[in-house]
Amino acid sequence: MTKDFEPLIIGFTCNWCSYRAADMAGTARLKYPPNVRLIRLMCSGRIDPSFILKALAGGADGVLITGCHPGECHYLEQNYKALRRVKLLKRTLAPFGINPDRVKLVWASAAEGVKLAREIGVFVEEIRELGPLNWPARSTPEINPVVEEVEEVAG
Ligand code: FES
Repeated sequence: MTKDFEPLIIGFTCNWCSYRAADMAGTARLKYPPNVRLIRLMCSGRIDPSFILKALAGGADGVLITGCHPGECHYLEQNYKALRRVKLLKRTLAPFGINPDRVKLVWASAAEGVKLAREIGVFVEEIRELGPLNWPARSTPEINPVVEEVEEVAG
């Protein structure tokens, strides 16, 4: 893939762990690629498959979801729900011609700024390797049935 391609990645981060890890990485001046736009959720369990699809339909080349480690969710078991939703969504993406590797789930505690920065760097390179997402459903009304179908399957 062309080296000129700069992936756009949307990152949904849990407020209590990975958002703080990203903050810590910034405070510690750890470098990670600026390709990721972070959106804070109170918990990874808040992730809805339609958020991911809308991000992809809206121009993202990849979506990163980050949350507290299993067993450490502030809302008990909500990150297990995130895990199930992401797994189901990934299965649903392939029939739409989207490589499931464009969606990644990473666990990172508030103390793991180094890990999160590294994971972001790895994911950016993985998406760079896959190239731009040229999803034909983008910017067309066709996206709505796709979102509804995924919500039904994985919601
Ligand atoms: Fe962080 Fe639930 S509070 S994943």
